[in-house]
Amino acid sequence: MGWRVLFTTPRGIEDVVAEELRALGLPARPRAWGLPGWAWATVKAPLELARICYQARTIFRGMLVLAEGPVRRTPEGLRDIYELVYELDWTAWLLEGATFCVRTKRHGDHAYHTPDIERTAGQAIVDSIQRRAGRRQRVSLKEPDVSVRVDVNGPTAVVGLDFVGEEALHKRMFRPYDHPAALSAVLAAAMVWASGWLDEPERGLLDPMCGGGTLLMEAASLLRKIPAGYFRKGKFAFRLLPYFRERGVDFDALMAEWDAQIDWARTAPIRGSDVSPKHLEGARLNLEQARVLDTCELKLLDVEKLPEVGWVPEGGVGAIVVNPPFGVRSGTPRKARRLHGLLLKAADYALDARGTLVVITHRPEWLEAELDAYGFAVERRYAVLHGDLPADVLIVKRVDGASQAQEQEHEEG
Ligand SMILES: C[S@@+](CC[C@H](N)C(=O)[O-])C[C@H]1O[C@@H](n2cnc3c(N)ncnc32)[C@H](O)[C@@H]1O
Repeated sequence: MGWRVLFTTPRGIEDVVAEELRALGLPARPRAWGLPGWAWATVKAPLELARICYQARTIFRGMLVLAEGPVRRTPEGLRDIYELVYELDWTAWLLEGATFCVRTKRHGDHAYHTPDIERTAGQAIVDSIQRRAGRRQRVSLKEPDVSVRVDVNGPTAVVGLDFVGEEALHKRMFRPYDHPAALSAVLAAAMVWASGWLDEPERGLLDPMCGGGTLLMEAASLLRKIPAGYFRKGKFAFRLLPYFRERGVDFDALMAEWDAQIDWARTAPIRGSDVSPKHLEGARLNLEQARVLDTCELKLLDVEKLPEVGWVPEGGVGAIVVNPPFGVRSGTPRKARRLHGLLLKAADYALDARGTLVVITHRPEWLEAELDAYGFAVERRYAVLHGDLPADVLIVKRVDGASQAQEQEHEEG
């Protein structure tokens, strides 16, 4: 027996999230209820969930499941939700004086809506605590101390506690520079995982359109095993739960213990370049703030020039992980399309024989049209969301293990 836990993840890339969670010692399964954006697992004790929420870089949130039960899709379903929530002993989870709110995600057809569920479940918690402890628990919709989750998926409701807090885990730290088209740090971490680079980091990683440096920051932080929560230690909701206070859990001491896995001295060749001096300076500031600048090399460089300048040795990189412009938030689609082609040329030059190119793009067809010409093929793909935009993460490999440029040289020689 144990406690069931749920994680919210970037949609479409749940298999990669499950891999990271396994590496952190938690055998997790992708897509709870078959739904994208979720993963689930069983922990022996709630403290294990706190550790995972502190360490994992590919999840948005972790939730401890307190109850699951059937709910009708008719208006009576709200009665089912009230009873499911009311029966729980909330005094174990909500300190006297702590504020709470209920947050809901609903999938499927129901005769009621998300706000109805939140209101009903909130009332059930207030009533339940009033009956057991004779006190009235305060609700706060803005920045509550404890966030209760009541998610309704078709005929099932799941009641749980959010262990992360108001800000999801994509907020790693204060970022000195905000790139206007920055990638979510959680998705960036999943892309680095998907590249396989962490198995052999000495082969090198490159982001030739690095913007504010999100992908470089995630790569270097994963390399050094820096927990996602390292710079936001005070913000975790699990710190306020009476369950842990009653057991004398000292989270400051525990986090220091969890931090013992960090290897600040570990380095690997991590390179980032961008055509914009402003973004590159922003990346430098962000990487410095994340305490990984010393393992990253930055260069002002047009991706078109990458095969010419000798900054990256030919065939000297194990993984390129990149988020080229889509031509939606800035630039034009024509320019963005051309950059997709230039990216393949740069990848053909820089990747070693077993190298992997991981690209997030809103227009996969722009890459696919030119893959053959460079002897590349898509090995895997994940349909994800980048902000609100549907996008694909493509995992691209060489078909025959040699670059076109290298082959040409061979023939001419
Ligand atoms: C979508 S943004 C990358 C955002 C980045 N992943 C982040 O999270 O901050 C694309 C970047 O490509 C850069 N870029 C555009 N054209 C380029 C070129 N020809 N060579 C190199 N970088 C270029 C832009 O300056 C921009 O910073």
